[in-house]
Amino acid sequence: MAGSDSGGPANPLRSERDRRLPRIAGPCSLVIFGVTGDLARRKLLPAVYDLANRGLLPPGFGLVGFARRDWSDEDFAAEVRSVVEKHNRTGFRPEVWDRLAEGIRFVTGTFDDPEGYTRLAETLSGLDTDRATAGNHAFYLAIPPNAFPVVCEHLSASGLAQDTNGHWRRVVIEKPFGHDLDSAKELNDIVGAVFSEDEVFRIDHYLGKETVQNILALRFANQLFEPIWNSNYVDHVQITMAEDIGIGGRAGYYDGIGAARDVIQNHLLQLLAFVAMEEPISFEPEQLRAERIKVLSATRPAQPLDETTARGQYGGGWQGSEPVVGFADEPGFSPGSTTETYAAITVDVGTRRWGGVPFYLRTGKRLGRRVTEIALVFKRAPHLPFDQTMTEELGQNALVIRVQPDEGVTLRFGSKVPGSGMEVRDVNMDFDYGSAFTEASPEAYERLILDVLLGEPSLFPDREEVEASWRILDPILEYWAAEGKPDTYPAGSWGPTSADEMLGRTGREWRRP
Ligand code: BG6
Repeated sequence: MAGSDSGGPANPLRSERDRRLPRIAGPCSLVIFGVTGDLARRKLLPAVYDLANRGLLPPGFGLVGFARRDWSDEDFAAEVRSVVEKHNRTGFRPEVWDRLAEGIRFVTGTFDDPEGYTRLAETLSGLDTDRATAGNHAFYLAIPPNAFPVVCEHLSASGLAQDTNGHWRRVVIEKPFGHDLDSAKELNDIVGAVFSEDEVFRIDHYLGKETVQNILALRFANQLFEPIWNSNYVDHVQITMAEDIGIGGRAGYYDGIGAARDVIQNHLLQLLAFVAMEEPISFEPEQLRAERIKVLSATRPAQPLDETTARGQYGGGWQGSEPVVGFADEPGFSPGSTTETYAAITVDVGTRRWGGVPFYLRTGKRLGRRVTEIALVFKRAPHLPFDQTMTEELGQNALVIRVQPDEGVTLRFGSKVPGSGMEVRDVNMDFDYGSAFTEASPEAYERLILDVLLGEPSLFPDREEVEASWRILDPILEYWAAEGKPDTYPAGSWGPTSADEMLGRTGREWRRP
């Protein structure tokens, strides 16, 4: 037998480092702009604590909040403590907290005030001295996109963006990254004038989810699926991200953005890229990104758009046993808003593997339940040697990647119903994370923040990917903009009837997860 210890051929993906060992970030500070916002409170600060609790942050670590409030370091630390106590995943341990709290600082400033950045520079250099953070700084912009340019300009003008003496600088940018292709390019230019591309980390938190990374393991670590992962066997693919929540309280962000920009442009097109891309030569960042870009560049909206897309706004109704108001009555929305809260699109992936296989992407607020899944729905067997009545209950085979909740993978296939006949009905075979592994999955933001501190960019879409995604979506958004107001669908339903018609035209139907 040639090659490695395992007796098989040498593994070309193996590099010198044993990748099973957790990697711990080196000394550094993380500065969060927009630290009083919802995202920072619910996700970022708890994720930082959970990383500390898992022993993945260095002893020399600084956490700096930058915001308008007139807070002292102690006020901020008390605030962080209260959100961490509430939202942590790994359990609150006072000794971990105390260590983290020693490196917590707050800088009062507005995004356009040069003095704020001067104070920030002093604070960071103080941390370098007191906490041995070694001059390495990451700036996390959890702020509205219209503030990116001014913050980048000031980071540059104050010298904070320059990496001196081999210390690193990184900037983390939250979505939405632009609202169409042109604005995304403009933003990329603005950020690119201050930071080099390898210093820019654009967050798409779906890539931080275990179940999304598992798509790569499912596809490329197994022999079983690859032979059928193509247009010879797959009839179509459905990618669904359904939410039961509405957008009360988020009008400022959501109005004018809508479901397609909020979710399809980033999360769903990235899921599509993971499902549809070719096998990368290795899991090195540039190889993974190259494959994602290739497949996104080959993806186009299916035509005609009036038949291949659907959108809607939720009306009032019931969410479970709770009465809920319709979108138009949510506080803060402009009357007559044409913003969609549900979007469904059809795209074609123009590659040999996928030619002729429609990919249906849908997302919506106030739908029947919260679920994200990817379903590969297979073609029917070309011939069924059964009485027709025996297979009336047999659907199409499907492989369903359950991204959340209830994470796992389901294989649906036909099975004989016990009895003297040969009746065949659909059954499910399930893999369930909860019962297969004892380790709990880290939160997406834990993984991604750690990757930023490690300088590991694989799970961050780069400039080209972001632009390729907008190129796919732009024609649809333009078409919708010319069409005026979307249809209404009842809260708690599965979207507007136009979405059912969209699939019905092709003889298919949406899964009801
Ligand atoms: C965000 C969207 O990116 O993802 C939100 O802006 C959405 O509108 C959220 O609610 C959903 O994330 P998750 O991880 O709960 O599916």
